[in-house]
Amino acid sequence: MAGAGVAVIGLGYVGLPLAARAVECGLTVIGVDVSRVVVDGLRAGRSHVDDISDAQVQRMLDQGFRPLLTDDAPTADVHVICVPTPLGADGGPDLTAVRSAGAWIARKLKPGALVILESTSYPGTTEDVLLPILQESGLQGGRDFHLAFSPERIDPGRSTHSYRTVPKVVGGLTPACRDAAVAFYSPLVDTVITTRGLREAEMAKLLENTYRHINIALVNEMARFCDLLDIDIWDAIDAAATKPFGFQRFEPGPGVGGHCIPIDPQYLGHYVQERTGEQFRFVHLAQEINAAMPDYVVSRVERMLQERGRSLNTARVLLLGVTYKADVADDRETPARPIAALLTECGAQVLVHDPLLPEWSPPDLEVTPVAIDAIGDCDVAVLLQAHRTFDLPVIAEAVPVLLDTRGVLPRTSAGVERL
Ligand SMILES: NC(=O)c1ccc[n+]([C@@H]2O[C@H](COP(=O)([O-])OP(=O)(O)OC[C@H]3O[C@@H](n4cnc5c(N)ncnc54)[C@H](O)[C@@H]3O)[C@@H](O)[C@H]2O)c1
Repeated sequence: MAGAGVAVIGLGYVGLPLAARAVECGLTVIGVDVSRVVVDGLRAGRSHVDDISDAQVQRMLDQGFRPLLTDDAPTADVHVICVPTPLGADGGPDLTAVRSAGAWIARKLKPGALVILESTSYPGTTEDVLLPILQESGLQGGRDFHLAFSPERIDPGRSTHSYRTVPKVVGGLTPACRDAAVAFYSPLVDTVITTRGLREAEMAKLLENTYRHINIALVNEMARFCDLLDIDIWDAIDAAATKPFGFQRFEPGPGVGGHCIPIDPQYLGHYVQERTGEQFRFVHLAQEINAAMPDYVVSRVERMLQERGRSLNTARVLLLGVTYKADVADDRETPARPIAALLTECGAQVLVHDPLLPEWSPPDLEVTPVAIDAIGDCDVAVLLQAHRTFDLPVIAEAVPVLLDTRGVLPRTSAGVERL
C-alpha cells in the first residue's frame, strides 16, 4: 500500500476533529484506530463525536480520508498520536495506548518523518517513554526523524471557537523538530505558539487543566460555605465577574467529569510525587473537594425532601442530564454516576432523563430512564446538566421541586433551589 501524508492515530474526540481540519486544508489523511466499531462507523459515514457531523465525515471520505484499522494502515510522513491516556488501577498514569501507538509507528517509521504526540500526559512522556519506543526502528530522534509534543485544547460542545482559532502549542525534541511541527500545524490554525522544549509544552497542558480543576474546587467549596452562611454564591460570582481584569468566572457544579479535568491533574500530582517525593497539595485538595460534590448534592436533595416532610429512602429522585457536561453525549467520569449510586444506597429510587443519552442505564447502577412526558412522576428533580435542548421553565413547572446545580433557573421559580 502506498504511503499517506498524515496518519492520525486514535479517532476520538481529539483525533477526528484534527483529521477533519487536515482534510479541509487539502492534506492527504488516513485515520488509524484499534476499534473496528469506530473504523466501520466512519467508513459508513457515521460520526461518533459530537462536534463532527455525519455530513462532515462523508465530505472527508469524499475528499480522500481513509479510516483504517492499525493492521491495514500504511506508513506516513506525519504521525499524530491522539490515543487515550486514562488512569491505571493504582490511580497513576496508564500509557498503554501511547506505547502501543508508538510501537506501531516504529514498525513503519521512515527517515525524515515527523511524529507528534497530542495525548495529554506528564512532562517527560514524549522524550522518556515515546522516543525510546520509536528508536526501536533503528532511526534516531532529532537526527533521522522529528519528534514533537502538541497538546490538544479542544473543548467538546463549545461553539465559540473552531479548530482554526485556538492557538496550537508546540514543543520539539530539537529546534528542527519544533520547526517541522510548526510547519505541519501552520496551515491548520491561525496561531502556533512554540515552547522551549517538549516538557514545557507537556506542562502547559497540565497547567491549563489543573488551573481549571483548582478554580472549580474553589467555587465548589465556596458554594458549600455560602449555603451555610446564607449568602447567594451565584449573585456573588455575577458581581465578581464584572471586574475587567484579574478574575475569571468559574461556577459550582455537581462534580467534575470527562476525560480531562478529573484525570490530568492526577498525572501532574503523580509526576511531582514520583520525581520530588513531595505532594502537590493544590492538586490533592482540589481532587478531594471536587470528588465530594456528589455527596453534597445528595445531602441537599435529602434536606429539600425533609423540608417537605419526606425522606430520601422512600423518594423518587429524577436526575436531569447525565452526561459529564452540557450538550455533549459523553458520560465518561460523569458525576451522575456517583450521585445515582449514593441515592440508591440511601434507598431512593433513581429516575434519569437525558435527551442526549435517552437509554442511559449502566449495568452497575439501578436507574430507570424516563421520557420527558413522565418527568413529573418524581418527588424531587436534580438538574445536573443544562443541555440547550432542555426547556427549563417547562421542566421546572412539571416537577414538584428541583435542585438546580447549574444556577440557570430564575431564583424566583417556585420550588426551585440553587446549589
Ligand atoms: N476529549 C477531550 O475533550 C480532550 C481534550 C484535550 C485533550 N484530550 C486528550 O486527548 C487524548 C485522546 O482523548 P479523546 O477524548 O480523543 O479519546 P477517545 O477515547 O475519544 O478516542 C481515542 C481513540 O483512540 C483509539 N485507540 C486506543 N488505543 C489505540 C491505539 N493503540 N492505536 C490506535 N488507536 C487507539 C480508541 O479506539 C479511540 O477511538 C487523551 O490523552 C485526552 O486526555 C482530550
